[in-house]
Amino acid sequence: MSSTPAWLVEPSPRLQGDIRVPGDKSVSHRSLMLGGLAEGVTEATGFLDSADCLSTMAALQALGVRVERPQHDVIRVHGAGARGLLPVAQPLDMGNAGTAMRLFMGLLAGQGVPATLVGDSSLMKRPMERVARPLREMGARIDTSGGLPPVVIHGGAALHGIDYTLPMASAQVKSAILLAGLRARGTTRVTEPAPTRDHTERMLQSFGVRLERHGATVAIEGGQPLRAARVRVPGDISSAAFFMVAGCLGARAGLTLRGVGINPTRTGLIDMLRLMGADIQVRPVEAPGGEPLADITVRESPLKGVVLPPELVPLAIDELPVFFIAAACAEGQTTVTGAAELRVKESDRLAVMAEGLQAVGVRCELLPDGMRIQGGELRGGRVHSHGDHRIAMAFAVAATRATEPIHVDDVANVGTSFPGFAALARSVGIGVQELPGEA
Ligand code: S3P
Repeated sequence: MSSTPAWLVEPSPRLQGDIRVPGDKSVSHRSLMLGGLAEGVTEATGFLDSADCLSTMAALQALGVRVERPQHDVIRVHGAGARGLLPVAQPLDMGNAGTAMRLFMGLLAGQGVPATLVGDSSLMKRPMERVARPLREMGARIDTSGGLPPVVIHGGAALHGIDYTLPMASAQVKSAILLAGLRARGTTRVTEPAPTRDHTERMLQSFGVRLERHGATVAIEGGQPLRAARVRVPGDISSAAFFMVAGCLGARAGLTLRGVGINPTRTGLIDMLRLMGADIQVRPVEAPGGEPLADITVRESPLKGVVLPPELVPLAIDELPVFFIAAACAEGQTTVTGAAELRVKESDRLAVMAEGLQAVGVRCELLPDGMRIQGGELRGGRVHSHGDHRIAMAFAVAATRATEPIHVDDVANVGTSFPGFAALARSVGIGVQELPGEA
């Protein structure tokens, strides 16, 4: 019988350290994509050398973009220019990366080259019509398979601008439409129901593109060239999140995270933990690029259950799994609503987190768009990540506070966003033992 790599995580009540997490995944994907379409050579430092970003890199290389890697976290992208991508015979494999697939849909919709996009078993189950539909309205010729990948993009369509109101808060859908808008005739306007990460907008501007924002609407004029830029990729706050929660649970002497991106569209977790009573200091540091940075120090603090304001959810959409762990360790009850999007992430994160929490003795109730969690003691036990990187890391954090070890199954996909997590976790005192899978 074959088994996948797993972790055995010991209770680890004393955490401490001063660390840096790897680069931001969203910004790394975008540096490759915008760099690939730009005139000139884009250099990104602090690039995230993870499986998801390498899927984006490999797809661009297949489309004829040359990428140099002088160091593992530095890329030099030799831009193909607005119309320089080459036809590719094979399907482009996006692996586990939803961001790669959805942004490539927008990027390729107005290009001359046809392409087919596929992914791993998780990505092949994720909804793609949310992107295909507005792109078709723009004139793109795109097919999905009953709403799912493979996504087939027929090249050569002439796009025109649209006014589009997103039916859900999604930075990926917004970004895909903006990238298509860059190649469309006229103006494309996207209105979001709630603010979502704005890395695409910021990076487009640093590549010389004019954008206008009026309230919840962002507008882009088609036909603008991208000029290669220098990108400084911040530390990923979504990776720092695991250490922020772990620090709240057990870092009496403090745990410091250096150079973390604090773009205000990403900092919901800090607000959420502070609402629970967490001691978190954020010290902004000088950041020359388009993204603000800070050093963050967290200290062990007693957490209290909260009713989470739903408007914070899109600002912490990837941090909800580890927030549920904070809630499980808090005194009293926490209620999260407005988080139905979690059901269509790398796994159904509401169902998978509820299953895992119950497996370690936490009382919780699954809601259609959230969860109610009764804080209390965590037992040890065995939890399944369902191949979801953030679920695996969330339960490694849970184990620090459990009464017995937690065995986390199926952790291979942690490398999609956070290569080196286990070693970094050990360096601050989290007792993660890596159990290799068997062939
Ligand atoms: C991302 C947007 C979010 C997030 C994902 C990365 C991005 O997805 O969950 O991990 O880089 O634009 P949605 O747009 O589906 O909310």
